[in-house]
Amino acid sequence: MSEANPDQTPSTGTAIHIKDLRKSFDGGKDFVLNGVNLEIPKGVVTCIIGFSGTGKSVLLKHILGLMKPTSGTVEILGNDLSGMNMDQLIKMRTRLGVLFQYAALFDDMSVMDNVIFPLREHRKELKLHDMEEIAKKKLAQVGLDPKHFHKLPSELSGGMRKRVGLARALALDPEIILYDEPTTGLDPILTEVVDDLIVETHKAHAGSTSVVISHDLFAAFRISDHIVMLDKGGVLLAGKPDEFLKSENELIKKFLSKGLKQG
Ligand SMILES: Nc1ncnc2c1ncn2[C@@H]1O[C@H](COP(=O)(O)OP(=O)(O)OP(=O)(O)O)[C@@H](O)[C@H]1O
Ligand SMILES: [Mg+2]
Repeated sequence: MSEANPDQTPSTGTAIHIKDLRKSFDGGKDFVLNGVNLEIPKGVVTCIIGFSGTGKSVLLKHILGLMKPTSGTVEILGNDLSGMNMDQLIKMRTRLGVLFQYAALFDDMSVMDNVIFPLREHRKELKLHDMEEIAKKKLAQVGLDPKHFHKLPSELSGGMRKRVGLARALALDPEIILYDEPTTGLDPILTEVVDDLIVETHKAHAGSTSVVISHDLFAAFRISDHIVMLDKGGVLLAGKPDEFLKSENELIKKFLSKGLKQG
């Protein structure tokens, strides 16, 4: 927690560095990502936005090393993923926490077991009791009442499942936390709760980097320090929220007017 950390200096540098990333699924006829150059700064909240089908999820899969570039490179915390073998990739992924769109919980496991799962996989040296203590701490951090710890995901509301998914994403103390469409399909009140949770989680993990993939421009303005807009396989604009507000680009203006109306 930041309160317990005497070093309040924000981190500097680049968390994720993407160089000329191109991805084609049809042998080079059509490129979904067509030369993405992007630096996601360390220590802040970045939102990646763009119209549907612009390749946001494909980009996220490259960041996680789940997809391989047709060309170009992805560097995470200074490490080029392309040179990594499977073991190195798995180890790298433990430094990234991901909250998937539908939380992607294991339905047949209790809340506690869901959060313990990554610890069982990657922190085998820990005793079960210590894993349980970590899980309880993470669940408390995301604001889940202990009376729910032994329930199954099906017994929880959508908002609570998001909290459990986030606690699981935080279990290994990741340096980068990625959110894949965290509020898509949620009602406006729950959207605000989840947006606040993202900001609180970011603040509670001093020096951590948060990346939010979203359709929701309104949320991007509310929660992020840095916004990246993708279009036609590339980065249309990357900058602070006010640079978007000042932009004369027609597409950005259109996205702003539509996005803010929806919000
Ligand atoms: N595994 C795949 N094989 C072939 N084409 C794919 C694959 N994954 C994604 N695509 C294509 O890549 C394009 C971008 O998809 P992507 O899911 O990244 O869009 P998105 O920006 O996340 O959209 P949305 O906002 O609707 O989630 C789409 O045309 C999609 O059909
Ligand atoms: Mg998507």
